[in-house]
Amino acid sequence: MDRTRRLRMNAAIRDLVREQHVRIDELIYPMFVIEGENICSPVDSMPGICQYSTDRMWEELERVREAGIRGILIFGIPDHKDETGSGAYDENGIIQKAVRLIKKRYPDLLVIADVCLCEYTSHGHCGLVKDGVILNDETLPLLAKTAVSYARAGADIIAPSDMMDLRVAAIRDALDENGFSQIPVMAYSAKFASAYYGPFRDAAHSAPGFGDRKTYQMDPANGREALREVEEDILEGADLIIAKPALAYMDVIKEISQNYNIPIAAYNVSGEYSMVKAAAANGWIDEKKIVMENLTGLKRAGAKMIITYHALDAAKWIREEEK
Ligand code: PBG
Ligand code: ZN
Repeated sequence: MDRTRRLRMNAAIRDLVREQHVRIDELIYPMFVIEGENICSPVDSMPGICQYSTDRMWEELERVREAGIRGILIFGIPDHKDETGSGAYDENGIIQKAVRLIKKRYPDLLVIADVCLCEYTSHGHCGLVKDGVILNDETLPLLAKTAVSYARAGADIIAPSDMMDLRVAAIRDALDENGFSQIPVMAYSAKFASAYYGPFRDAAHSAPGFGDRKTYQMDPANGREALREVEEDILEGADLIIAKPALAYMDVIKEISQNYNIPIAAYNVSGEYSMVKAAAANGWIDEKKIVMENLTGLKRAGAKMIITYHALDAAKWIREEEK
């Protein structure tokens, strides 16, 4: 006969036995930088999120610093797209420019560069396309080149999100050969072909021009297969693993954390963010409580880090709780 309520009787005792905490140190904030000047363009489907040109990104970065956020995940929106996504590996591409500027002003801010081609290709796919097919091995050198170029610009961590087979190995080799053996690879390993990426594609102008991403991103029905992806990426040299989306895939996060001794980041993606913001704007839910409950759930599932558009708000709320 267990009386579990004994440990719930007041706030002090509840805090004493609380199993999970969301820490500001573990939050990563995604940011969108766009080519051009004097741009701070709100993303309609993601209230509170904007695309910034490099001259205006400082406003947002100031907020990041003030919130105590230590890491950002950066996405670029070029002004020119082509068949091979050359903007991704252009030494003067948008990410390269932004990263050089950010690292100069904030050397201790962890800058994680998302590596993919979809923002840079005219067809919007994450790899090279031939006759309507997304090519795997032909894409690998371009991803590797992009990763090296971001590392050269000063990126602290390289995060491939393309889901081509063998890309972690290709990127690891290229980084090592170019003197970046100390730069970690954070692999989007369990990345599902999800409708939750819809708002992101508005933000990053990266929707596929034809078809979908089902030939490279995972089937949402396949949890066991996620373990194969993770195992493969670890063998290829991944230092950190991303599972994505987060909330509908907590079982996957749990499985990974129980089977592999590697830090896991849960990516609380755009659609998950937009749903919370929409319901909150209608007064249907308590935004702060819902967000903290979601983030705590991800910690409970086994995530070490959380990539989230709520990071600035969450950091503020975590601070308030500590007072
Ligand atoms: C690019 C990429 C996507 C996301 C992160 N990197 C979109 C996609 O795969 O279509 C989604 C992030 C989000 O929805 O917040 N490959
Ligand atoms: Zn992509």
